[in-house]
Amino acid sequence: MNQHLTPPPVPFIDVVSQRERLGKSIDQAVSRVLAHCQFINGPEVAELEARLAAFCGAKHVVGCASGTDALLMVLMAKGVGRGDAVLCPSFTFCATGEVVALLGATPVFVDVDEATFNMDVESFKRGIATARRLGLKPVAVIPVDLFGQSADQDAIGAVASAEGLFVLDDAAQSFGATYKGRRLGSFGLATATSFFPAKPLGCFGDGGAIFTDDADLAATLRSVRVHGQGTDKYDNVRIGLTARLDTMQAAILIEKLKIFDDEIAARNRVADRYAQGLGNVLAVPHVAHGCTSVWAQYTIRLPNGVDRDGFAAALKAQGVPTAIYYPKSMHQQTAYRDFPVADGGLPVSERLSDEVISLPMHAYLDETTQARIIAAVRGAL
Ligand SMILES: Cc1ncc(COP(=O)(O)O)c(C=O)c1O
Repeated sequence: MNQHLTPPPVPFIDVVSQRERLGKSIDQAVSRVLAHCQFINGPEVAELEARLAAFCGAKHVVGCASGTDALLMVLMAKGVGRGDAVLCPSFTFCATGEVVALLGATPVFVDVDEATFNMDVESFKRGIATARRLGLKPVAVIPVDLFGQSADQDAIGAVASAEGLFVLDDAAQSFGATYKGRRLGSFGLATATSFFPAKPLGCFGDGGAIFTDDADLAATLRSVRVHGQGTDKYDNVRIGLTARLDTMQAAILIEKLKIFDDEIAARNRVADRYAQGLGNVLAVPHVAHGCTSVWAQYTIRLPNGVDRDGFAAALKAQGVPTAIYYPKSMHQQTAYRDFPVADGGLPVSERLSDEVISLPMHAYLDETTQARIIAAVRGAL
């Protein structure tokens, strides 16, 4: 009888195994914070910032409350507002464009590249022209490093500097990845990342960080994250936020950062096994030449004619969860559909939203479980 029972469901992201591996080190880190009671801006925050700077090569790191705040704070520090246009890929998580709209500026959505799912440079150029035609002033671009790998930093950076735009890299999903041998966090004016628990480097709540080589920007960001405070605590010099990273989360991240490189290597082994097991039946992710990925998601494209809902249901019946990132690109969503899109439209984003589906991906996916996932995928096709 038992042999007919489906084995227990596979976790989509396994936070529990990582928690077990880290065991006492996390408990002790949290206990230290509980002992010194500096829950806001405790010593762990500065220590984490220094460790993150050393990890990615950025000169300044400013911890903050989330990846969304990280993006928002840079735009606030740069004074982005009404009449300004910020170019964003449409095939991304909503926070990328949301922060632009929050400030009264206009997100102009551009298309992505069919192979990497990251910003298409030609569409980016068209988006700048579209913005100008609409009477907007293009001031910035937010290239997103989607699903774990970098956007084309050189090509985007070249267009941005020729057109007078600053680059705010959205590495919420890709901190730890490299582009031409350099870790993300050292490209553009600033980079934002997220420590949401499901991210490759995640904490046990919300958290984020900003990376920059610009000392003045870093100083402004430190003011923005505490209500825009100046040197006199009660004379706020700009409009700001409560956007600090909790000491407790910083303490947890210090411990997690110690095993991050090892986890990135494990994620890459998982990705390699998927590519071997699935590469001949469907479109597996493509990592661009000169890039490495941290595999925030393992996102496949289904062959023509395969019904995505049916495919997901067949996998679910085998105890294999899937997720769709993103069933609607930003320009297709209710809150964003009135914002402009680059001339020529966004056909690739729309196609990807119809065809992609993500498989379980984490550093603790063992070979047996993965073989089960691969067999389920092949069986469902
Ligand atoms: C591409 C991208 N940008 C920004 C964010 C926002 O990060 P957070 O959830 O920490 O606010 C996310 C989070 O999912 C993301 O995937």
